[in-house]
Formats: sequence, structure tokens, C-alpha cells
Amino acid sequence: LSSSSLPQAREQFVYSDDESADVDWDNLGFGLVPTDYMYIMKCAKEGNFEQGQLNRYGKVELSPSAGVLNYGQGLFEGIKACRKEDGRLLLFRPDQNAIRMKIGAERMCMPSPSVDQFVDAVKQTVLANKRWVPPPGKGSLYVRPLLMGSGPVLGLAPSPEHTFLVYASPVCNYFKEGFAPLNLYVEDEFDRASPGGTGGVKAISNYAPVLKAQIRAKNRGFSDVLYLDTVNKRYVEEVSCCNIFIVKGNMIATPATNGTILAGVTRRSIIEIAGDHGYQVEERRVAVDELMDADEVFCTGTAVGVASVGSITYHNTKVEFRTGAKTVSAELYSDLVGIQKGLSEDKKGWIVEI
Ligand code: COI
Repeated sequence: LSSSSLPQAREQFVYSDDESADVDWDNLGFGLVPTDYMYIMKCAKEGNFEQGQLNRYGKVELSPSAGVLNYGQGLFEGIKACRKEDGRLLLFRPDQNAIRMKIGAERMCMPSPSVDQFVDAVKQTVLANKRWVPPPGKGSLYVRPLLMGSGPVLGLAPSPEHTFLVYASPVCNYFKEGFAPLNLYVEDEFDRASPGGTGGVKAISNYAPVLKAQIRAKNRGFSDVLYLDTVNKRYVEEVSCCNIFIVKGNMIATPATNGTILAGVTRRSIIEIAGDHGYQVEERRVAVDELMDADEVFCTGTAVGVASVGSITYHNTKVEFRTGAKTVSAELYSDLVGIQKGLSEDKKGWIVEI
């Protein structure tokens, strides 16, 4: 895709491919840095998504009775674009996010863009915001596709119109800890997802409910919250914004995606990389007692990457885990990042070059 294939509407905007945006690249965190363009595509009731287009980044107009505002009919995704030393821009497995959005849309009674429409929209958004992609080693452009019920509904029903919108922001480390290990708190008062609910898809409505426990844990000095299953309060689920893995000897385990666990793209990629390294990888229930007895614990997610966990606190007991350069998570992360940044050969065909 070249910038000349961008829709005509863009021509009226001042836009330069080469000039770097005015950003302090050394101090990027995970906060919104507004960029130049967003992509918008609409779908009327029971139709297909029509041709979308890039618009200047800015506010969107919604009916006060839009399905997303009234009933939380919405999904989101997260994808990173990296800049290579030679200037090329690389996306990591965007088709997987497109597929996950399709699955989520089915659960939330929404139409979804095709995989090609989704990936094309992501490519166009990255290209149009090229000057906001951080230099190599300084972070990435985080692309946020949204799918929402944008048409008016008053009685509870699927929205009569849906909007697919993609915006982007340059980001670096998700946690303020940077690369320092996380200290997690095992939450057993509040729940994240129940069987039969929407925990397994990236519904916007999965995220606001975790804020209360997250803020409480942060106020107590923890990095974030780890949730337990709602039935037994015995098995580990996931952290507010990422999946979790434990390591014991040569075994790596992570909760199976049984409907309450988000099928993370980074989670799946780490499972494959770990298998290639000869680890015995298990997707199954992981009891909190087993977690507390692990050698090592780490989290995975698009925003988070692979984050090592230094301690877990559960019922007033704090357990510390192995951290540092010689850990399993460091070994797997370095492989993953090598592929994402185009530093190592993409043997699995995970990279989409723009
Ligand atoms: C991501 O990792 O991309 C997410 O969507 C998590 C979000 C809470 C930042």
C-alpha cells in the first residue's frame, strides 16, 4: 500500500511522510498522543461495511441513544506497528486481531469488517500517521480499532448502524514500572468475567468494571490486579489488561481460553515460541496455589508485551519470583521482539510490512 493509494479526501490535509512528529521519543509512556488521521467505515443494518476513509483525527459525532453509549455494544483491538532501521513499517499479526474482532462481533450481535477490510484500514491508518511511528528502539505506534453500535436504540436491541473506527498513538512501556518486574495483587472480592459472559472477547464492557479493583490495588502500591475464576475462586484467570503464565522447571502453563480468558495474540505467539524452545507448554486451569509455588510468572499482551512478575500477594501472603535477564520470560520476549522489530527472520510469516 503506498501513500498514493490513500483516499482523495486526504489530499486536502497537510501531511508529510518523512518529517518526524514533534514528540519527546525518550519519554513516551502509554498515554494518548493524538495523531493526524483516523479511519472510519460504516455499516447500516444488516448490510456490509461500505468503503471507509481516512479523516482528520478528532471528535466523533454520536446520537445520545447510540447502542455503544447506552448498552455498551462495542469491541476494541490493539495492534503495534514498529519502525525498522531502514524505515520500513511492520505490523504484527493484524489478521489475528481481525479474526478476534469477527468472533467478538458475533457474540455482541454486531456486523464486522472482513479480515481484508480490517487489515487494510489498519495499514492506511499507520501510513497516514507514519510520522508518529517512534524511531527504532523508542517504542511503537499503537493502533486501536473500535467497532461500535453507533445507531440510535432506546429499547434494548442491536444498534441499527455500526461504525468501525481506527486511531493510533505512539507508545512505549505500558506500566510505569518500565521493564522492572510487576507486583500483582490477587483479587478475590471483585470478578472480571463469568462463564457464559463476554470475558473471552474484547468487549469494551469488560474493562470499566476492573477499574475499581485496579485503582484500589494501585493505591496500595501494587502494579495491577490478577483475577480468579468466579465459580471456585481457586483458579487464576488474567490480569486487568493482559494474560498470565507460570513457569515451573521446564513447564510453562497458562489458563485455557474457556470463554472467560481473552485469546491474546501475544499469548498465542508466546505459546508457539515457547514450544519451539522445547518447553512443555500447557493450556489448562492453573490453581492459585500452583501460581504461588511457581519459579517464574509473567504477563503477555499487545500493550504490555511480555512483563515479568516480581511478586504476587494473595490473602496477605507475598511470594517473590525469579526475575532478570536469565529468565524464561526474558528468553521468550527477546525472540518475540526480534520478530516484531524485524531484527530476526520472520519464519512464521507473522509480519505484515506496510
Ligand atoms: C492491549 O494489550 O492491546 C489491550 O487492549 C489492553 C488495554 C487495556 C491497553
